[in-house]
Amino acid sequence: MENAPEGLSRVLFCSGGSEAVEAALKLARQYWVERGEPSRSRIISRRQSYHGATLGALSVGGNMKRREVYAPLLFNAHFIEPCYEYRLRQPGEDITSYGERAASELETAILELGPENVAAFICEPVVGATLGAVPAAPGYLKKIRAICDHYGILMILDEIMCGVSRTGWHFACAEDGVSPDLITIAKGLGGGFQPVGAVVVSSRVEAALADGSGELKHGFTYMAHPVACAAGLAVQQYIAAHDLTAAARIRGGELRTALLQAFQDHPYIGDVRGRGLFLGLELVADRASKNPFNPAHAVHAKLKQAAIERGLLVYPGGGCIDGTRGDHILLAPALTVSADEVAEIVERLRLAISDVPLAQLAKD
Ligand SMILES: Cc1ncc(COP(=O)(O)O)c(C=O)c1O
Repeated sequence: MENAPEGLSRVLFCSGGSEAVEAALKLARQYWVERGEPSRSRIISRRQSYHGATLGALSVGGNMKRREVYAPLLFNAHFIEPCYEYRLRQPGEDITSYGERAASELETAILELGPENVAAFICEPVVGATLGAVPAAPGYLKKIRAICDHYGILMILDEIMCGVSRTGWHFACAEDGVSPDLITIAKGLGGGFQPVGAVVVSSRVEAALADGSGELKHGFTYMAHPVACAAGLAVQQYIAAHDLTAAARIRGGELRTALLQAFQDHPYIGDVRGRGLFLGLELVADRASKNPFNPAHAVHAKLKQAAIERGLLVYPGGGCIDGTRGDHILLAPALTVSADEVAEIVERLRLAISDVPLAQLAKD
Protein backbone atom coordinates (compact mmCIF):
# COMPACT_ATOMS: atom_id res chain seq x y z
CA MET A 1 0.00 0.00 0.00
CA GLU A 2 2.94 2.36 0.48
CA ASN A 3 3.07 2.88 -3.29
CA ALA A 4 -0.66 3.51 -3.71
CA PRO A 5 -1.93 7.01 -4.52
CA GLU A 6 -3.01 9.09 -1.53
CA GLY A 7 -6.20 8.03 0.21
CA LEU A 8 -6.21 4.43 -0.99
CA SER A 9 -6.14 2.30 2.08
CA ARG A 10 -7.36 -1.25 1.48
CA VAL A 11 -6.99 -4.03 -1.09
CA LEU A 12 -9.52 -6.64 -2.10
CA PHE A 13 -7.88 -9.57 -3.91
CA CYS A 14 -9.58 -11.70 -6.56
CA SER A 15 -8.59 -13.97 -9.44
CA GLY A 16 -8.16 -11.66 -12.42
CA GLY A 17 -8.99 -8.42 -14.18
CA SER A 18 -12.67 -8.95 -14.99
CA GLU A 19 -13.36 -10.03 -11.42
CA ALA A 20 -11.62 -6.90 -10.18
CA VAL A 21 -13.82 -4.69 -12.37
CA GLU A 22 -16.98 -6.52 -11.25
CA ALA A 23 -15.95 -5.97 -7.64
CA ALA A 24 -15.17 -2.28 -8.22
CA LEU A 25 -18.55 -1.66 -9.88
CA LYS A 26 -20.36 -3.46 -7.08
CA LEU A 27 -18.38 -1.62 -4.43
CA ALA A 28 -19.36 1.66 -6.09
CA ARG A 29 -23.00 0.65 -6.06
CA GLN A 30 -22.90 -0.55 -2.46
CA TYR A 31 -21.18 2.69 -1.44
CA TRP A 32 -24.23 4.69 -2.52
CA VAL A 33 -26.69 2.32 -0.90
CA GLU A 34 -24.74 2.56 2.36
CA ARG A 35 -24.69 6.34 2.03
CA GLY A 36 -28.48 6.42 1.70
CA GLU A 37 -28.53 7.45 -1.97
CA PRO A 38 -29.91 4.31 -3.65
CA SER A 39 -30.92 6.20 -6.80
CA ARG A 40 -27.23 6.33 -7.77
CA SER A 41 -26.83 3.33 -10.04
CA ARG A 42 -25.66 4.65 -13.42
CA ILE A 43 -22.09 4.05 -14.55
CA ILE A 44 -20.46 6.39 -17.05
CA SER A 45 -17.68 4.92 -19.16
CA ARG A 46 -15.96 5.74 -22.45
CA ARG A 47 -16.27 4.46 -25.96
CA GLN A 48 -13.27 2.54 -27.29
CA SER A 49 -12.40 0.99 -23.93
CA TYR A 50 -12.13 -2.51 -22.48
CA HIS A 51 -12.79 -3.50 -18.91
CA GLY A 52 -13.21 -7.26 -19.05
CA ALA A 53 -15.29 -10.13 -20.38
CA THR A 54 -17.81 -10.81 -17.61
CA LEU A 55 -21.23 -9.26 -18.17
CA GLY A 56 -20.79 -6.32 -15.78
CA ALA A 57 -17.31 -5.48 -17.03
CA LEU A 58 -18.41 -5.91 -20.64
CA SER A 59 -21.40 -3.64 -20.01
CA VAL A 60 -19.08 -0.75 -19.17
CA GLY A 61 -16.67 -1.63 -21.98
CA GLY A 62 -16.75 0.33 -25.22
CA ASN A 63 -15.04 -2.24 -27.43
CA MET A 64 -17.77 -2.79 -30.01
CA LYS A 65 -16.46 -6.08 -31.37
CA ARG A 66 -16.21 -7.64 -27.94
CA ARG A 67 -19.71 -6.43 -26.97
CA GLU A 68 -21.56 -7.24 -30.19
CA VAL A 69 -22.76 -10.80 -29.60
CA TYR A 70 -23.60 -10.25 -25.94
CA ALA A 71 -25.22 -6.81 -26.23
CA PRO A 72 -28.75 -7.98 -25.26
CA LEU A 73 -27.38 -9.33 -21.97
CA LEU A 74 -25.56 -6.15 -20.93
CA PHE A 75 -26.71 -3.41 -18.54
CA ASN A 76 -27.18 0.10 -19.74
CA ALA A 77 -23.98 2.07 -19.14
CA HIS A 78 -23.56 5.59 -20.51
CA PHE A 79 -20.60 6.28 -22.82
CA ILE A 80 -18.61 9.41 -23.54
CA GLU A 81 -15.75 9.90 -26.02
CA PRO A 82 -12.29 8.60 -25.14
CA CYS A 83 -9.35 10.97 -24.67
CA TYR A 84 -7.69 10.20 -28.02
CA GLU A 85 -5.52 13.11 -28.97
CA TYR A 86 -4.23 11.75 -32.29
CA ARG A 87 -7.74 11.52 -33.74
CA LEU A 88 -9.92 13.85 -31.69
CA ARG A 89 -7.81 16.95 -31.03
CA GLN A 90 -8.95 19.68 -33.38
CA PRO A 91 -6.58 21.64 -35.63
CA GLY A 92 -5.22 24.61 -33.69
CA GLU A 93 -6.27 23.17 -30.33
CA ASP A 94 -3.39 22.65 -27.90
CA ILE A 95 -3.17 19.34 -26.10
CA THR A 96 -4.11 20.72 -22.68
CA SER A 97 -7.21 22.47 -24.03
CA TYR A 98 -8.09 19.26 -25.81
CA GLY A 99 -7.74 17.29 -22.55
CA GLU A 100 -10.04 19.77 -20.79
CA ARG A 101 -12.59 19.62 -23.58
CA ALA A 102 -12.56 15.81 -23.59
CA ALA A 103 -12.99 15.71 -19.79
CA SER A 104 -15.86 18.20 -19.90
CA GLU A 105 -17.89 15.58 -21.74
CA LEU A 106 -18.18 13.83 -18.39
CA GLU A 107 -19.96 16.82 -16.90
CA THR A 108 -22.36 16.96 -19.84
CA ALA A 109 -23.16 13.27 -19.33
CA ILE A 110 -23.68 13.69 -15.58
CA LEU A 111 -26.09 16.58 -16.13
CA GLU A 112 -27.95 14.60 -18.79
CA LEU A 113 -28.40 11.59 -16.49
CA GLY A 114 -28.94 13.68 -13.34
CA PRO A 115 -26.10 13.62 -10.79
CA GLU A 116 -28.41 11.96 -8.27
CA ASN A 117 -28.53 8.90 -10.55
CA VAL A 118 -24.81 8.53 -11.25
CA ALA A 119 -22.70 6.15 -9.15
CA ALA A 120 -19.31 6.19 -10.85
CA PHE A 121 -17.14 6.99 -13.83
CA ILE A 122 -14.66 4.37 -15.07
CA CYS A 123 -11.78 4.68 -17.51
CA GLU A 124 -8.34 3.32 -18.36
CA PRO A 125 -5.70 6.03 -17.72
CA VAL A 126 -3.76 4.60 -20.68
CA VAL A 127 -6.16 2.75 -22.98
CA GLY A 128 -4.81 -0.68 -23.84
CA ALA A 129 -6.18 -3.22 -26.29
CA THR A 130 -8.92 -1.08 -27.83
CA LEU A 131 -6.92 2.05 -28.75
CA GLY A 132 -3.32 0.85 -28.58
CA ALA A 133 -1.61 2.53 -25.60
CA VAL A 134 -3.34 5.90 -25.70
CA PRO A 135 -2.56 7.93 -22.58
CA ALA A 136 -4.81 10.59 -21.12
CA ALA A 137 -3.85 14.09 -22.30
CA PRO A 138 -2.12 16.27 -19.68
CA GLY A 139 -4.70 17.56 -17.20
CA TYR A 140 -7.48 15.26 -18.41
CA LEU A 141 -7.64 13.02 -15.35
CA LYS A 142 -7.28 15.99 -12.97
CA LYS A 143 -10.30 17.60 -14.59
CA ILE A 144 -12.18 14.27 -14.43
CA ARG A 145 -11.32 14.09 -10.70
CA ALA A 146 -12.61 17.64 -10.17
CA ILE A 147 -15.88 16.89 -12.00
CA CYS A 148 -16.37 13.67 -10.00
CA ASP A 149 -15.72 15.60 -6.77
CA HIS A 150 -18.12 18.36 -7.73
CA TYR A 151 -20.98 15.92 -8.25
CA GLY A 152 -19.86 13.46 -5.54
CA ILE A 153 -19.33 10.70 -8.10
CA LEU A 154 -16.83 7.88 -7.56
CA MET A 155 -13.86 7.71 -9.91
CA ILE A 156 -12.71 4.21 -10.87
CA LEU A 157 -9.46 3.79 -12.78
CA ASP A 158 -8.88 0.52 -14.57
CA GLU A 159 -5.13 -0.09 -14.48
CA ILE A 160 -5.35 -3.77 -15.29
CA MET A 161 -3.15 -3.29 -18.33
CA CYS A 162 -1.29 -0.07 -17.57
CA GLY A 163 -0.74 -0.42 -13.80
CA VAL A 164 1.81 -2.20 -11.61
CA SER A 165 4.89 -0.37 -13.00
CA ARG A 166 4.19 -0.92 -16.70
CA THR A 167 4.22 2.82 -17.42
CA GLY A 168 7.26 3.39 -15.19
CA TRP A 169 5.10 4.38 -12.22
CA HIS A 170 3.71 2.04 -9.57
CA PHE A 171 0.26 3.24 -10.62
CA ALA A 172 -0.18 4.92 -14.00
CA CYS A 173 -2.42 7.62 -12.50
CA ALA A 174 0.43 8.82 -10.26
CA GLU A 175 1.96 10.38 -13.39
CA ASP A 176 -1.29 12.31 -13.86
CA GLY A 177 -1.22 13.43 -10.22
CA VAL A 178 -4.65 12.03 -9.33
CA SER A 179 -6.03 9.68 -6.68
CA PRO A 180 -9.18 7.85 -7.72
CA ASP A 181 -11.62 6.19 -5.33
CA LEU A 182 -11.03 2.70 -6.69
CA ILE A 183 -8.26 1.22 -8.85
CA THR A 184 -8.39 -2.17 -10.51
CA ILE A 185 -5.15 -4.05 -11.17
CA ALA A 186 -4.36 -7.59 -12.36
CA LYS A 187 -1.93 -8.69 -15.11
CA GLY A 188 1.35 -7.33 -13.69
CA LEU A 189 0.30 -8.15 -10.15
CA GLY A 190 1.00 -11.85 -10.68
CA GLY A 191 3.45 -11.17 -13.50
CA GLY A 192 1.82 -13.88 -15.60
CA PHE A 193 2.87 -16.56 -13.11
CA GLN A 194 -0.38 -16.68 -11.18
CA PRO A 195 -3.97 -15.52 -11.86
CA VAL A 196 -4.59 -12.70 -9.40
CA GLY A 197 -6.35 -9.35 -9.52
CA ALA A 198 -7.22 -6.67 -7.00
CA VAL A 199 -9.25 -3.59 -6.27
CA VAL A 200 -7.40 -0.91 -4.37
CA VAL A 201 -10.02 0.89 -2.29
CA SER A 202 -10.04 4.41 -0.85
CA SER A 203 -10.69 5.10 2.81
CA ARG A 204 -13.82 7.00 1.67
CA VAL A 205 -15.35 3.82 0.23
CA GLU A 206 -14.04 1.62 3.00
CA ALA A 207 -15.49 3.93 5.67
CA ALA A 208 -18.92 4.01 4.01
CA LEU A 209 -19.15 0.23 4.26
CA ALA A 210 -17.58 0.04 7.73
CA ASP A 211 -19.89 2.74 9.13
CA GLY A 212 -22.90 1.30 7.32
CA SER A 213 -23.79 -2.37 7.11
CA GLY A 214 -20.24 -3.34 8.05
CA GLU A 215 -19.98 -5.95 5.34
CA LEU A 216 -19.08 -6.27 1.69
CA LYS A 217 -22.12 -7.68 -0.07
CA HIS A 218 -20.05 -9.27 -2.82
CA GLY A 219 -17.79 -12.25 -2.84
CA PHE A 220 -16.10 -15.04 -4.78
CA THR A 221 -14.98 -18.37 -3.31
CA TYR A 222 -11.38 -17.71 -4.27
CA MET A 223 -11.17 -14.11 -3.12
CA ALA A 224 -7.83 -13.42 -1.40
CA HIS A 225 -6.68 -16.96 -2.15
CA PRO A 226 -3.44 -17.43 -0.18
CA VAL A 227 -1.48 -18.96 -3.09
CA ALA A 228 -2.53 -16.14 -5.43
CA CYS A 229 -1.66 -13.51 -2.83
CA ALA A 230 1.71 -15.14 -2.07
CA ALA A 231 2.60 -15.23 -5.78
CA GLY A 232 1.48 -11.60 -6.18
CA LEU A 233 3.62 -10.61 -3.22
CA ALA A 234 6.65 -12.48 -4.60
CA VAL A 235 6.29 -10.69 -7.95
CA GLN A 236 6.00 -7.30 -6.26
CA GLN A 237 9.04 -8.06 -4.09
CA TYR A 238 11.00 -8.92 -7.22
CA ILE A 239 9.87 -5.70 -8.91
CA ALA A 240 10.96 -3.70 -5.84
CA ALA A 241 14.25 -5.55 -5.35
CA HIS A 242 15.28 -4.99 -8.98
CA ASP A 243 13.66 -1.56 -9.24
CA LEU A 244 11.72 -2.61 -12.32
CA THR A 245 9.52 0.48 -11.96
CA ALA A 246 12.53 2.67 -12.79
CA ALA A 247 13.64 0.11 -15.38
CA ALA A 248 10.26 0.40 -17.14
CA ARG A 249 10.74 4.15 -17.30
CA ILE A 250 14.33 3.94 -18.58
CA ARG A 251 13.85 1.06 -21.04
CA GLY A 252 10.52 2.53 -22.05
CA GLY A 253 12.24 5.82 -22.88
CA GLU A 254 14.79 3.95 -24.97
CA LEU A 255 12.09 1.98 -26.75
CA ARG A 256 10.09 5.12 -27.53
CA THR A 257 13.20 6.93 -28.84
CA ALA A 258 14.14 3.95 -31.02
CA LEU A 259 10.57 3.61 -32.33
CA LEU A 260 10.45 7.29 -33.18
CA GLN A 261 13.81 7.11 -34.92
CA ALA A 262 12.70 4.11 -36.94
CA PHE A 263 9.13 5.14 -37.73
CA GLN A 264 8.39 8.82 -37.20
CA ASP A 265 8.70 9.52 -40.91
CA HIS A 266 7.32 6.18 -42.03
CA PRO A 267 4.57 6.79 -44.61
CA TYR A 268 2.19 4.27 -43.00
CA ILE A 269 2.77 4.91 -39.31
CA GLY A 270 0.71 7.83 -38.13
CA ASP A 271 1.40 7.81 -34.43
CA VAL A 272 3.86 6.39 -31.88
CA ARG A 273 2.39 6.74 -28.38
CA GLY A 274 2.18 5.38 -24.87
CA ARG A 275 4.05 5.56 -21.60
CA GLY A 276 6.94 3.55 -20.18
CA LEU A 277 7.01 0.00 -21.51
CA PHE A 278 3.47 0.32 -22.82
CA LEU A 279 3.69 1.70 -26.33
CA GLY A 280 1.52 1.65 -29.41
CA LEU A 281 1.80 2.36 -33.12
CA GLU A 282 -1.18 3.38 -35.24
CA LEU A 283 -1.00 2.38 -38.89
CA VAL A 284 -2.53 4.63 -41.52
CA ALA A 285 -2.99 4.47 -45.27
CA ASP A 286 -2.12 8.15 -45.52
CA ARG A 287 -0.15 10.10 -42.93
CA ALA A 288 -1.33 13.57 -43.89
CA SER A 289 -5.06 12.84 -43.85
CA LYS A 290 -4.74 10.08 -41.19
CA ASN A 291 -7.00 7.99 -43.41
CA PRO A 292 -7.02 4.40 -42.15
CA PHE A 293 -6.48 1.26 -44.19
CA ASN A 294 -9.52 -0.50 -45.57
CA PRO A 295 -10.60 -2.66 -42.59
CA ALA A 296 -11.12 -5.59 -44.99
CA HIS A 297 -7.31 -5.82 -45.25
CA ALA A 298 -6.95 -6.40 -41.47
CA VAL A 299 -3.52 -4.77 -41.63
CA HIS A 300 -3.04 -5.21 -37.87
CA ALA A 301 -3.49 -8.98 -38.19
CA LYS A 302 -1.11 -9.13 -41.18
CA LEU A 303 1.49 -7.27 -39.17
CA LYS A 304 1.02 -9.58 -36.20
CA GLN A 305 1.68 -12.58 -38.45
CA ALA A 306 4.71 -10.94 -40.06
CA ALA A 307 6.07 -10.12 -36.59
CA ILE A 308 5.62 -13.73 -35.44
CA GLU A 309 7.61 -14.83 -38.45
CA ARG A 310 10.37 -12.44 -37.38
CA GLY A 311 10.24 -13.83 -33.83
CA LEU A 312 8.39 -10.91 -32.25
CA LEU A 313 5.04 -10.88 -30.46
CA VAL A 314 2.92 -7.76 -30.84
CA TYR A 315 -0.67 -7.27 -29.68
CA PRO A 316 -2.69 -6.21 -32.74
CA GLY A 317 -6.02 -4.39 -32.75
CA GLY A 318 -8.48 -3.30 -35.41
CA GLY A 319 -11.19 -0.68 -35.03
CA CYS A 320 -9.40 1.93 -32.90
CA ILE A 321 -11.26 4.76 -34.67
CA ASP A 322 -14.83 3.56 -34.41
CA GLY A 323 -14.86 -0.15 -33.69
CA THR A 324 -14.30 -1.03 -37.35
CA ARG A 325 -11.73 1.32 -38.91
CA GLY A 326 -8.21 1.89 -37.65
CA ASP A 327 -5.25 -0.44 -37.10
CA HIS A 328 -2.77 -0.46 -34.27
CA ILE A 329 -0.28 -2.68 -32.53
CA LEU A 330 0.67 -2.66 -28.89
CA LEU A 331 4.18 -3.31 -27.56
CA ALA A 332 4.48 -4.33 -23.91
CA PRO A 333 7.76 -6.16 -23.33
CA ALA A 334 8.57 -7.71 -19.95
CA LEU A 335 9.69 -5.22 -17.31
CA THR A 336 12.99 -7.14 -17.26
CA VAL A 337 13.74 -6.33 -20.93
CA SER A 338 17.37 -5.30 -21.53
CA ALA A 339 18.67 -2.38 -23.61
CA ASP A 340 19.93 -4.84 -26.25
CA GLU A 341 16.52 -6.51 -26.40
CA VAL A 342 14.87 -3.12 -26.85
CA ALA A 343 17.04 -2.55 -29.93
CA GLU A 344 16.23 -6.07 -31.14
CA ILE A 345 12.48 -5.47 -30.77
CA VAL A 346 12.65 -2.36 -32.95
CA GLU A 347 14.78 -4.07 -35.57
CA ARG A 348 12.45 -7.07 -35.78
CA LEU A 349 9.46 -4.78 -35.95
CA ARG A 350 11.10 -2.79 -38.75
CA LEU A 351 11.62 -6.00 -40.71
CA ALA A 352 8.07 -7.21 -40.00
CA ILE A 353 6.60 -3.90 -41.17
CA SER A 354 8.61 -4.07 -44.37
CA ASP A 355 7.29 -7.61 -44.94
CA VAL A 356 3.68 -6.34 -45.13
CA PRO A 357 2.85 -4.79 -48.54
CA LEU A 358 1.52 -1.58 -46.97
CA ALA A 359 1.96 0.58 -50.09
CA GLN A 360 -0.19 -1.80 -52.07
CA LEU A 361 -2.80 -2.18 -49.30
CA ALA A 362 -3.03 1.62 -48.94
CA LYS A 363 -4.29 1.92 -52.54
CA ASP A 364 -7.75 0.46 -51.97
C1 LIG B 1 -7.93 -2.59 -19.12
C2 LIG B 1 -8.41 -3.98 -18.89
N1 LIG B 1 -9.38 -4.21 -18.01
C3 LIG B 1 -9.85 -5.45 -17.74
C4 LIG B 1 -9.33 -6.54 -18.39
C5 LIG B 1 -9.86 -7.92 -18.08
O1 LIG B 1 -8.91 -8.66 -17.40
P1 LIG B 1 -8.95 -10.26 -17.43
O2 LIG B 1 -8.73 -10.67 -18.85
O3 LIG B 1 -7.83 -10.66 -16.49
O4 LIG B 1 -10.27 -10.69 -16.92
C6 LIG B 1 -8.32 -6.36 -19.34
C7 LIG B 1 -7.78 -7.51 -20.08
O5 LIG B 1 -7.12 -7.39 -21.07
C8 LIG B 1 -7.85 -5.05 -19.60
O6 LIG B 1 -6.88 -4.83 -20.48
